[in-house]
Amino acid sequence: MNTPVVDLRSDTVTRPSKAMREAMARAEVGDDVFGDDPTVNRLQESAAEIFGFEASLFFPTGTQSNLAALMSHCQRGDEVLVGMEAHTYRYEAGGGAVLGSIQPQAIVNQPDGTLDLAQVEAAIKPDDPHFAKTRLLALENTITGRVIPRKYFDEALALAKRRGLATHLDGARIFNAAVKLGLPVIELCRGFDSVSSCLSKGLGAPAGTMLLGSKEFIARARRARKILGGVMRQVGILAAAGLYALERNVERLAEDHANAERLAKGIGAPAPQTNMVFLDSRPGLVEHLAKHGVIVLPGARLRLVTHLDVDAAGIDRAIAAFNTFK
Ligand SMILES: Cc1ncc(COP(=O)(O)O)c(C=O)c1O
Repeated sequence: MNTPVVDLRSDTVTRPSKAMREAMARAEVGDDVFGDDPTVNRLQESAAEIFGFEASLFFPTGTQSNLAALMSHCQRGDEVLVGMEAHTYRYEAGGGAVLGSIQPQAIVNQPDGTLDLAQVEAAIKPDDPHFAKTRLLALENTITGRVIPRKYFDEALALAKRRGLATHLDGARIFNAAVKLGLPVIELCRGFDSVSSCLSKGLGAPAGTMLLGSKEFIARARRARKILGGVMRQVGILAAAGLYALERNVERLAEDHANAERLAKGIGAPAPQTNMVFLDSRPGLVEHLAKHGVIVLPGARLRLVTHLDVDAAGIDRAIAAFNTFK
């Protein structure tokens, strides 16, 4: 039997398990454009409860969910304050500007991933026709594997409230943060106007992201999703995977964190906070790892991500591959 490849490129590489596929095959479906898909409806109700919001909406991707959130908070010519390292700013092809006519004001992330709140406040524009209207503060948790503590959010949300800004949280990996902090996810979302959370990262679903907010906000996001071409038909098949992921794959994220910790220790990398290990690359290292069945994304700084499809034996193989590189 061939030894399985250890794929550390991302926690998005997982394949649905047999049990998840069975749940998908059993899903009752209907046309979600008409609101007729009972599995999608169940997922949306269940997510609203888990995250502590009035309503939620199922999206095909996190990129589209974040963009719909930006478009639902901001009008043409409005501004979003966002970290330079934030996915929404850096890795979503400038969608907010391209499709939403929203100006991003990027702020340098501090080493712990947070934004300095004095800098955030200084970036809010005065009410003057020279300036875009600063409308939204967008944060992220986890950000590049780092967990943002609740206390920081309390301060950031208080500032946003005082200055009349709406708030959005890209919680693509919020469950990793919740498991790490030992807090329910509802606690990390409290106070935000909207949260986007992916089912297709550590939770192991093949696709899908939930956007959470008030009923009124979700009604606007529904329109944005339509504009962006994200409304699907018998999509209960994917929603069933999402429900399965929320029910079965949250607590086990602690295993991914433990695997990441062991990997970091084994290869002499800094200790991770969640499921991402970072270390500087060396010429030839990526190719050497590939020869030993360990796949990583090339780059000057390597990001190694643990997930549902990498077990303890896989971590041992990865450590051995790193340590035989001369
Ligand atoms: C923090 C964060 N937000 C949003 C996304 C976008 O998700 P998707 O790939 O489903 O568009 C990602 C994807 O990796 C992410 O890491």
